[in-house]
Amino acid sequence: MTIQWYPGHMAKAKRQVQEKLNLIDVVIEVVDARIPLSSRNPLVDELIRQKPKLVLINKSDLADPEATKKWVDYFEQDEMTSLIIDAQRGKGMNLIPGKVRELATPLLEKWERKGINPRPLRTLILGIPNVGKSTVINKLANKKIARIGDRPGVTKAQQWIKVGKEMELLDTPGILWPKFEDEQVGFRLALTGAIKEEIFDFQAATVFLLRFLTANYPTLLKNRYQLTELSDDMGDMFDAIGKRRGCLMGGGLVDYDRVAEIVFRDFRQGKFGNISLELPPND
Ligand code: G4P
Repeated sequence: MTIQWYPGHMAKAKRQVQEKLNLIDVVIEVVDARIPLSSRNPLVDELIRQKPKLVLINKSDLADPEATKKWVDYFEQDEMTSLIIDAQRGKGMNLIPGKVRELATPLLEKWERKGINPRPLRTLILGIPNVGKSTVINKLANKKIARIGDRPGVTKAQQWIKVGKEMELLDTPGILWPKFEDEQVGFRLALTGAIKEEIFDFQAATVFLLRFLTANYPTLLKNRYQLTELSDDMGDMFDAIGKRRGCLMGGGLVDYDRVAEIVFRDFRQGKFGNISLELPPND
């Protein structure tokens, strides 16, 4: 889904999320396992205030499993409950209703004290674009939910999807904009598909990626392009990859734009292997 964020859109998105939140007992925030902090909008915590929240660390199939474990610890230290999932294949999803119930214990106890008959817990999927919110909803619903509401001018009443006996899920997610005042965060969002390709510089994002891979995943980078050595000089790296991939222009010069595109696509398609672009602060 393409979304352009302008101040007016941001205010509208915030208002829409706030309206949905009024109906909700437990919030489920989806983040991308490769960039669990950069794919959060800090506004989430401000918006949901004291409501219980479950963080779903999604796309774990693409991330570095060691890094993902560290992120679970990080969230725990910050008093957030998280679950590692792969929504595309449905991995880890069966644990969601139990975690939601656990998080809602104070509410359930309050209902009991007041003699209120318990009803299913109401949940909302929330997150920035492309983290996998719709995939999570469809998997939990066990079917493809029609997205009529996405068409301009067509509104539809929100519906509750039953997930087991004790949980309900709003059928449209809450969407927040990605936050990228910091250039590095912007590159991470671009590389993982959270922001559109037209709005950033391909070559700069590729330089960021190649530097990151050289420092953190040198073997995966060497393997992908059959390089015997890596260089700190990005001109040399582009030349070496370009020659391997036949990205040559007239006169034997390497076409840097094509190299950038190839490396970028390779990352987007998970061709390097399992990579996390972000580790918890102070790790
Ligand atoms: P959104 O509602 O948050 O915007 O995200 P959505 O569910 O539409 O998912 C965005 C893309 O991410 C989809 O790919 C979807 O299949 C993929 N995806 C969701 N969960 C997972 C996961 O656990 N693992 C992997 N590997 N992919 C996942 P798409 O339709 O092909 O879109 P795109 O990749 O071309 O952007």
